[in-house]
Amino acid sequence: MTTTTLSRRGVDAPSSPIRALAAAARKAQEAGRNVHYMNIGQPDIATPRGMIEAYRNYDEKVLAYAPSDGFQDYREALASTYYNRVIGDQPPITADDIVVTVGGSEALLFAMASITDPGDELLVCEPYYTNYHGYAHLLGVETSPVTTHAKDDYRIDPAKIEAAITGKTRGLVLPTPGNPTGLVLSHEELCDIAAICDRHGLFFICDEVYREFIYDAPLGTLAPSLLAVPGAHDQAIIIDSVSKRYSACGARVGCLVTRNREVRKAALHFGQARLSPATVDQHAAMAALQTPQTYFNDVVTEYKGRRDTLVSGLKGIGIDVNPPQGAFYLAVPLPVDDSDHFAHWLVSEFDLDGETLCVAPLGGFYSTDGLGKNEVRMAYVLEQPILKRCINILEEGLKAYKPG
Ligand SMILES: Cc1ncc(COP(=O)(O)O)c(C=O)c1O
Repeated sequence: MTTTTLSRRGVDAPSSPIRALAAAARKAQEAGRNVHYMNIGQPDIATPRGMIEAYRNYDEKVLAYAPSDGFQDYREALASTYYNRVIGDQPPITADDIVVTVGGSEALLFAMASITDPGDELLVCEPYYTNYHGYAHLLGVETSPVTTHAKDDYRIDPAKIEAAITGKTRGLVLPTPGNPTGLVLSHEELCDIAAICDRHGLFFICDEVYREFIYDAPLGTLAPSLLAVPGAHDQAIIIDSVSKRYSACGARVGCLVTRNREVRKAALHFGQARLSPATVDQHAAMAALQTPQTYFNDVVTEYKGRRDTLVSGLKGIGIDVNPPQGAFYLAVPLPVDDSDHFAHWLVSEFDLDGETLCVAPLGGFYSTDGLGKNEVRMAYVLEQPILKRCINILEEGLKAYKPG
């Protein structure tokens, strides 16, 4: 009998540092401990009722495939009721500029696959959303990191981006608001980065799935979008999703938005290979577009309170961090040498009065070896009294921890 062999790609596929501790956390739970999950961006906020009702009321005789690029009426509604609030004074987005995808994740995959070939490079600013690396690996593409630092609030130095460009660089992928950094790029910063992309013939994949979640601006303000940058039309690819906007991560509906017809065509062809995004979930996502502004005001106010509670609580135990401007993550430096080991130990061996904590080690959010080894990411997706308990668990855990 001959043996089967996996591809190099399969063998080397990086596991997600966000989900890596899931098995240990499950075991802890099975052993009767109450695990607080701050490792994953799964909000506890209620999904808008209108969206849930749309699922309840779905009543077709046949649950059919959707078109590969999504339902026309959903794309039209997205363009007219949502994106035209985002574009500033730039030309309108139409249904034709949108390809509906299975979450923002698939939009990322399609965007990256549309603009790279194996061996090409994509620029990322580290620490970055770790799945950029996962998808780059799948496509045989290198992620070239530009390192950003907490002391600068993770602001990006355009000169460093320009210096990192090589003959193999095809584009840049950046989240704003950032995960795990919370960095919100200003309109001017987006213009500067877009200008670099323009000068070097690079695509700019701008991941805007946290657009609603900004905390140092009047309620109702959206994070600046690449769609509003003058002239950045052919190079701009926007990643979007209903997951965080409506606290509907399980809906698995996202989209790719671009005025570049060739990119859209490539994304559509990739979409045809996987047939279609989910039918009922698009129906619910369409209903979600009617969500009143008061919902978002309440949600943003709640997250801002959580952010402040987490930042001041950490300060109280001697960990100084600047408040992130957006999204709902915080990169936290810890007095440990190996945050992988610490995070695993914390969830699998430590408990405080029957409770423990799951956080994501930050090493997997960097490409540069050694960075993130003393940091974890904490997602403030829990209510404030629980966050306070989490800080307590972290404090006592740090006191009890003996490095392996
Ligand atoms: C920055 C960023 N982009 C994209 C995604 C993809 O989310 P989804 O596939 O649920 O839309 C996430 C999820 O956490 C994220 O944090």
